[in-house]
Amino acid sequence: MQSLILDTPTVTSLVRAATAAPSLHNAQPWRFRFLTDSVTFQVRASLDRALPREDPHGRALHMGCAAALLNLRVAAAHAGWLPLTALLPDPYDPRLLATVRLERPLGGLHPEAVPDTEPGPEDLAALAALHPAIRRRHTCRQPFREEPVPVELRAALCQAAGREGARLRFPEPDEAWRLLETSRDAEGRDLAPFTTATTGAPSPNLAVIGTTEDRSVDWLRTGQAMERALLLAAGHGLTAVLTCHTPGWHEPHAPDHPQAMIRFGYAPASPATPRRPTSLVLDIV
Ligand SMILES: Cc1cc2nc3c(=O)[nH]c(=O)nc-3n(C[C@H](O)[C@H](O)[C@H](O)COP(=O)(O)O)c2cc1C
Repeated sequence: MQSLILDTPTVTSLVRAATAAPSLHNAQPWRFRFLTDSVTFQVRASLDRALPREDPHGRALHMGCAAALLNLRVAAAHAGWLPLTALLPDPYDPRLLATVRLERPLGGLHPEAVPDTEPGPEDLAALAALHPAIRRRHTCRQPFREEPVPVELRAALCQAAGREGARLRFPEPDEAWRLLETSRDAEGRDLAPFTTATTGAPSPNLAVIGTTEDRSVDWLRTGQAMERALLLAAGHGLTAVLTCHTPGWHEPHAPDHPQAMIRFGYAPASPATPRRPTSLVLDIV
């Protein structure tokens, strides 16, 4: 059986994987603390990296930090650990967005010994399998080819998001139009990446992530669901562009609160964007 001690290079490499996550304007609004004694990572909001004008309620900040949290869980599972995650574990410390305690390494564990609240062996394998996509995923900055995403892959993307407690769906054209036009009118967002180049209509590969409620924990679920779907997509040769909630997006008859939009598709590779060095975002105590 492996040791329960995590050495500094391993801790650093897990955090490096976390920081490859997307964030609004690449703000990277996260900090990580590793508590050696309890083998636990804290994922914390870095308020000096917040964007109060573009993101006054911190919705995108939560989503970016949650995307980093998902990467951290993927990297830990890939390294053979069981990542036990708690969202917003301390009501008196709102900057502490999540903890990830690493438990006994896989292999020495009988599947029936895993309590229900922990990720089962199947989900751990699914998480670990996303690891190569962490480096492959980049926000698409190239024109998309007009090519549909296969139905089975669309279903898998919906399932991946669902595992993180949010709902990913491909809206009907009427709803897609309303969401896009609201974004353009409220915030002047460029719709081109979300539309079909030949007709200007919403892309049939446009997905919405929604949650039943609209609290900070739902923003964290959205960020994890978004990154899980983006990694799965990247692993299947898809790329994507995304945008998050705009005021006025809520549809009276919609089944959920729309939190983010993702346009999936096929396009030439986009370059990686820079990240701050791990030494600036990680404390080991
Ligand atoms: C919550 C959130 C909102 C985002 N909104 C937009 C957006 O409106 N338009 C856009 O082009 N990219 C958006 N992005 C993508 C970021 O610009 C991108 O993640 C960042 O520049 C880092 O690049 P990378 O994703 O290629 O690593 C968003 C990302 C997140 C997490």
